[in-house]
Amino acid sequence: MSDLSRIGVAIDSDLLEKFDRLITQRGYSNRSEAFRDLIRDELIAKSWESPDSQVVGTVTLVYDHHVRLLSEKLTDIQHDFQHSILSTLHVHLDHDHCLEVLVVRGRAAEVQKISDSLISTKGVIHGRLTMTASGAELK
Ligand code: NI
Repeated sequence: MSDLSRIGVAIDSDLLEKFDRLITQRGYSNRSEAFRDLIRDELIAKSWESPDSQVVGTVTLVYDHHVRLLSEKLTDIQHDFQHSILSTLHVHLDHDHCLEVLVVRGRAAEVQKISDSLISTKGVIHGRLTMTASGAELK
């Protein structure tokens, strides 16, 4: 871990009160860890803005597997990008619905394209790309 620096932050009392309520709800035991997480979140979001940066994330999809050819289409897309998909998890939620989670890694532009292609496929009910980072650069 790199050296710790202490900083002072001037903040409006009302805003601080709201912040304290939020971080208590989320289970933080102190403000420092909450601030660090917010900063990391912004740094990760920033790294995803540059198309060539190497990123890690997950794509979550919920779909009805009875929609004609949908499973085949989703599989075709995944094979097109197989070099950037590290792992997939498939859960049969109920009689009709499937949940799929893909772990993706690669260029930000490519990973975004994988996510967009899958989520925009007709019949996908909900999809979400979660952007994260390998962690080494965020300590
Ligand atoms: Ni299924």
